[in-house]
Amino acid sequence: PHVAAVIPAAGRGVRLGPGAPKALRTLGGTPMLVHAVRAMAASRAVSLVVVVAPPDGADEVKSLLDAHALPGGTPGGSWGRTDFLVVPGGESRQESVRLGLEALPPGHDIVLVHDAARPLVPVDTVDAVIEAVRDGAPAVVPALPLADTVKQVEPAATPGEPEPVVATPDRALLRAVQTPQGFDRATLVRAHATVTDNVTDDASMVEQLGERVVAVPGHEEAFKVTRPLDMVLAEAVLARRRL
Ligand code: C5P
Repeated sequence: PHVAAVIPAAGRGVRLGPGAPKALRTLGGTPMLVHAVRAMAASRAVSLVVVVAPPDGADEVKSLLDAHALPGGTPGGSWGRTDFLVVPGGESRQESVRLGLEALPPGHDIVLVHDAARPLVPVDTVDAVIEAVRDGAPAVVPALPLADTVKQVEPAATPGEPEPVVATPDRALLRAVQTPQGFDRATLVRAHATVTDNVTDDASMVEQLGERVVAVPGHEEAFKVTRPLDMVLAEAVLARRRL
């Protein structure tokens, strides 16, 4: 089956500090979103990338992708082997993903959902996720063991106040989950049509349907660029790759 990737890139990136929408900020001189699209296109299995742009920024994103196209691309349509589409996003990540799914043409039966904010995911991780979906899992997440011990707390009424600790889940059973997450398309579409709670990833919507979700090994370099320090790390990873 053909594989498409949906890249939600409509977030403002408030936690990164003031400036352009997060996906348009540059790493090594290239917008984060372009890195993310390249990371998906690097997989030979991925034939279509749907970019979900900030609601008022679809044209800007289209020109940006054209400007970074590899030779052989056609304006507004392809990067050589990989076609792309740009659609405007929504208020929440969830809504942005749904709008991307609605724009998918028929024929792509496996769908990856990848955060623009994870620009440096290696192609081997992308391929491992696709492989596990091909092997029959309706939903697949790349995941890593945690370095930190995790506590559940009673959130403080006032920010900065001490918070009572309620529980310490066994760290050995916890994983930090990354993207791309991979799905059987029909399952993901059903999840987005059924689940209305606010969630932070797509796999949890599939869990709510009662479908099987599996984790495969993630990669350190698939970390999410959220805070200013993450930009420093991302620049360092890129610089090391260019050596
Ligand atoms: O906010 P968070 O870091 O979880 O965002 C993850 C991804 O979701 C980012 O790539 C961001 O651009 C995207 N997003 C979106 N539409 C929104 C909010 C976030 O596409 N309304």
